[in-house]
Amino acid sequence: MSGDWTVKRALEVQIGRDAVMVTIQGWVRTRRVSKNVGFLALNDGSCLDHLQVVCDKDNPSYNLLAEIHTGASVQVHGELQQSMGKGQAVEMLAHSIELVGASDAERYPLQKKGHTLEYLREIAHLRPRTNTFGAVFRLKNLISRAIHHYLQEQDFIWVHTPILTASDCEGAGEMFSVSTTSMKSLHKNPKKLEELAERPYFGSEAYLTVSGQLEAEAVALSHKKSYTFGPTFRAENSNTARHLSEFWMVEPELAFADYHDSMRCGDELFRAVVSHCLAFGRKDIAFLDKIYKNQTLEELEHFLATPTEKISYTEAIEILKQSGRSFEYSVDWGMDLQTEHERYLCETHVKGPVWVYDYPKDIKAFYMYLNEDQKTVRGTDLLVPRIGEICGGSQREDRLDVLEARMQECGVDKAHLDWYLDLRRYGTVPHAGFGVGLERLVMWITGMSNIRDAIFAPRAPRLLDF
Ligand code: 4AD
Ligand code: MG
Repeated sequence: MSGDWTVKRALEVQIGRDAVMVTIQGWVRTRRVSKNVGFLALNDGSCLDHLQVVCDKDNPSYNLLAEIHTGASVQVHGELQQSMGKGQAVEMLAHSIELVGASDAERYPLQKKGHTLEYLREIAHLRPRTNTFGAVFRLKNLISRAIHHYLQEQDFIWVHTPILTASDCEGAGEMFSVSTTSMKSLHKNPKKLEELAERPYFGSEAYLTVSGQLEAEAVALSHKKSYTFGPTFRAENSNTARHLSEFWMVEPELAFADYHDSMRCGDELFRAVVSHCLAFGRKDIAFLDKIYKNQTLEELEHFLATPTEKISYTEAIEILKQSGRSFEYSVDWGMDLQTEHERYLCETHVKGPVWVYDYPKDIKAFYMYLNEDQKTVRGTDLLVPRIGEICGGSQREDRLDVLEARMQECGVDKAHLDWYLDLRRYGTVPHAGFGVGLERLVMWITGMSNIRDAIFAPRAPRLLDF
């Protein structure tokens, strides 16, 4: 049953003198039947456009068209030809049509009319069949492909870091704990609780990782350049349009490098990803741009044409203070930048993405390199319009004594991180890296305004559907 043809490939065929016979499978978006001829619009997710299948009345499959409704899966064998109709260059003249899986048109949750994004979230299993999510998932694929491609070309080693862990990389206490026993069974049998506390499965408390950075550091300190790319989990109680409890993160790490090197690397990575998406996904970006009026095409092109600005946190605070804006959260040196501040800095002040670096140590993680002023650390965030932070990174503290003092100061439990200190004990080097939230990057490139529309099945507080 398998065929190598996709709708995308079929639509790209240059029609010449020789017949191009193909077999195409996909899902029916619409069906129109008149007295003499029937049409199916077929989509298989390979591109935004549908393939128009034409079925003449004298074709034995013509009568089958009555049973083929929106949402049905079909396999069509036929000949590609120059289209007579408007809107497409190529169409297919069917020789035979096979109904693979029927669909009840009345009950099919995707009707022809446009649906709201909120409604589509309730049918996350079917939304990939819409134009919007067809485009989002294709672009997400392109983004991932471009990330791997760029990093591999730059000789980064992809390291598959653990998802189950005993340590809290960010030290923020936002971890999901993992156990072999469900809450339900503990309620039924409270004795189990003692057992669990005394003899945990792994011998100690286990959590879902918040970041693969610490392990990526270990591999950067053997292979010079490493990256992780995988799922990460945050038990933040944030029900916002840019937070998920489970998201994917790419975390490159560079040894013999400082934070300016890692910002340069991040900048090149973003440029490579945006270029790749514009080269291979322009139609999808343009479609989303048109439907949701988010001006992403213009914004991404402007990004490629302009060097990315860098400002220190202290400068950023000054800019916010001078802005004359009344922010919901007041602006004082030492505070964490809120989304409204981040958006002001990139949308209004810079009018494009901006790196902010040298943050107050008290609002950043224990592993960041302490500056001479003893007040700031070499943290680096990239802020982009509409979203705010999409990338967070830093130069890492490579001095054993300073790192130990910072761990103490931040109340980080050293018990599970002695191995991390070893990296400073034996052959330590300056190193730096960053983490990019894949779904935030998807938001930026697709223009989707809610992170729940940038992933197959969003996980958030009180949300675990699909
Ligand atoms: O700034 P974060 O917490 O940094 C780290 O985890 C570092 N260990 C990264 C590193 O230096 N290797 O997270 C990095 C990025 C953020 O900039 C954001 O894009 C994304 O991960 N992120 C989230 N995305 C969706 N939902 C959440 N709850 C997120 N939290 C962070
Ligand atoms: Mg951050």
